[in-house]
Amino acid sequence: MENFNFYSPTEFVFGKERENECGKYVKKYGGTKVLIHYGGGSAVKSGLLDRVKASLDSENIPYVLLGGVKPNPRDTLIYEGIELCRKENVDFILSVGGGSCIDSSKGIACGALYDGDFWDFYDKKASVQKALPIGTVLTIAAAGSEGSGASVVTKEDGMLKRDTSSDLLRPRFSVLNPQLTCTLPAYQTACGATDIMAHVFERYFTNTKEVEVTDRLCEAILLTMVKETPRVIADPDNYEARANIMWAGTVAHNDIIGVGRSQDWNSHGIEHELSGLYDCAHGAGLAVVMPAWMEFVYKHDVMRFAQMATRVFGCPMNFENPEDTALKGIYAFRRFLHDIGMPINFEELGAKAEDIPVLIEKFGIGDGQTWGFVRLSAKDIEEILNNAVKAKL
Ligand code: NZQ
Ligand code: ZN
Repeated sequence: MENFNFYSPTEFVFGKERENECGKYVKKYGGTKVLIHYGGGSAVKSGLLDRVKASLDSENIPYVLLGGVKPNPRDTLIYEGIELCRKENVDFILSVGGGSCIDSSKGIACGALYDGDFWDFYDKKASVQKALPIGTVLTIAAAGSEGSGASVVTKEDGMLKRDTSSDLLRPRFSVLNPQLTCTLPAYQTACGATDIMAHVFERYFTNTKEVEVTDRLCEAILLTMVKETPRVIADPDNYEARANIMWAGTVAHNDIIGVGRSQDWNSHGIEHELSGLYDCAHGAGLAVVMPAWMEFVYKHDVMRFAQMATRVFGCPMNFENPEDTALKGIYAFRRFLHDIGMPINFEELGAKAEDIPVLIEKFGIGDGQTWGFVRLSAKDIEEILNNAVKAKL
């Protein structure tokens, strides 16, 4: 196991109707003037926004509102949010929504206290030194942004999707009420489930030896997702299944399962170019990319893939031919994605093979290589994407 520090200071406020306490938590973390940031309408329609406002009112905390965050959140709304925070002397951001809304809030949080262009953080020209504190009321189990320091934003001009990360961007608190996720369309539930599983796989496929605790934690989350996702798709109001998925989404990405081991993240890097170019859901893009990546890299550590196949998907171990077991595990993952309604190839995603050179160009590694479980060249990425074009069951 490698040396590590684990710092995850977010207070998670989990359970039914806990959004009614968000005013109390804003006060606890020092907020005296709040920006409530929300998405395209689901929080308004469900009445959640009104409950959040009432909770702030009950603590006499004034607020301003900024809605309209789109999935794959845009820089343009972040500039608006930064201006609003400065004009209104906002000292706390309360994000009510999914990963896109939280990531947009994080962009505003670091941009509001920065003299330059907030995009410098996403362009890797600057690192975050200060940020407004954030709280979240999560409405979809997916990105894990409610417990992570990461933020992914799309620059409207050129649709360039880039990320930044800092412990200063970790939310002070996150309200996790599984009831709020019951209004999700099945497709968004499945996209979220795919993202959660991808966050685990990015950590599971490691070159670090003897990391039994984190291997087993990863497998526990994957097994939970395999069991609970079909349950909530069949029965959207199943609270217990929603609760398991919601907590799985948080622990899949606050890095408790990733400590002490090398990680990969190439599937995420490649996917961000797909959702940047096509504005598709991140989870749907991962469903197309990740199994294709697995097929490209499994020979690097056949036994690790065979372990995934047997422990997560219940494939019988073929001791004479472990490669066969490894491939059966990858097939089982793709089959699972298909069965929950995810696209598994370019056509189903709405992507085009002729755009592959553009995707690689935007990825921007030139003659270099990525880092991770298997280092990839531009040619390797081209092969992975070509496999994704023609993937089938
Ligand atoms: O905008 P509204 O009306 O809320 O609609 C949203 C949106 O259309 C809807 N939705 C959310 N909660 C709902 C609901 N509809 C009905 N009922 C509810 N309770 O779902 C749609 C998707 O929302 P979004 O926030 O985009 O989903 P998600 O949480 O999957 O976030 C995706 C974004 O997070 C980034 C992705 O790249 C993508 O941009 N990621 C962020 C990470 C991070 N910060 O750590 C890590 C991830 O790997 C990921 O890259
Ligand atoms: Zn993700």
